[in-house]
Amino acid sequence: MEPILSNSTERLAVLTGAGVSVASGIRPFRGPGGLWNDEDIESWATAGAIARDPVGCWRAHRGLAKGMGQAKPNAAHVALASLEARIGSERLTVITQNIDGLHSRAGSSNVVEIHGSFHSLRCTRCSVSGIAAPPADEDHEEPPHCTRCGAPLRYDVVLFGEMLPERATLRAYAALLGCDVFLVVGTSGVVYPAAGFAAEAKQAGARTISVNLESDGDTGDSGAFDEVILGRAEELLPGLLGDRAPFGIASSARSE
Ligand SMILES: NC(=O)c1ccc[n+]([C@@H]2O[C@H](COP(=O)([O-])OP(=O)(O)OC[C@H]3O[C@@H](n4cnc5c(N)ncnc54)[C@H](O)[C@@H]3O)[C@@H](O)[C@H]2O)c1
Ligand SMILES: [Zn+2]
Repeated sequence: MEPILSNSTERLAVLTGAGVSVASGIRPFRGPGGLWNDEDIESWATAGAIARDPVGCWRAHRGLAKGMGQAKPNAAHVALASLEARIGSERLTVITQNIDGLHSRAGSSNVVEIHGSFHSLRCTRCSVSGIAAPPADEDHEEPPHCTRCGAPLRYDVVLFGEMLPERATLRAYAALLGCDVFLVVGTSGVVYPAAGFAAEAKQAGARTISVNLESDGDTGDSGAFDEVILGRAEELLPGLLGDRAPFGIASSARSE
């Protein structure tokens, strides 16, 4: 396989999904061990559920947020953060669907959280936002209330039936349309618009690579990916993005 970046000016955009955080003990939604195989999480993940039952939603989300808040970044997050430290944040953008905040906690600074984050709260009624979520080790059975309008606050994450945050979406498109290489890691590719990002990056001229446990066969001339590398993100990324090859990017990896 070619090195991920082949010269010292190329830009890399990385899209990560739940698979990147599995080694941190956070279960993905789909794929092996996925939350949706055995729990009714989906019913609490909609705009309608927040409107009907903000307190019930708070309790359901709070359990997930506490688990994510106690998790630690793994080798995949660290590999991306160390790559940014080596090549600079202007050459590496991490676009993530994850809401666990682990890329930032690993040290990445150029992170676009297109589905929001469990670290932040906003009002269910008015425009108040950017309120720090309570620490993971505290019990909060009831949602905090908005200091402006009194309505319950909610986690600032994108639920089914909701729009993606505009600023994050614009940043994501700027990165994927302006990169030389687009690397997708640990996402099942069924949640749009992120599921279409690789095809759009490829159409704009980027080389596209997927790292995932399983292949959906989306390769070749008709598919979105030029290369598919099967395996665990936490095992593959340190080698793929390591500092043993020209321009700080290693060249050895098992590829299909
Ligand atoms: N960590 C989190 O923040 C988290 C966790 C679960 C769900 N979510 C949310 O739910 C949605 C889920 O969509 P998604 O596509 O990101 O995830 P997904 O759960 O739909 O799919 C996860 C993918 O990762 C792969 N995978 C599992 N372990 C892996 C590993 N160790 N290395 C590489 N790949 C691995 C699986 O085969 C699967 O294709 C997202 O929108 C996200 O916001 C977030
Ligand atoms: Zn309010």
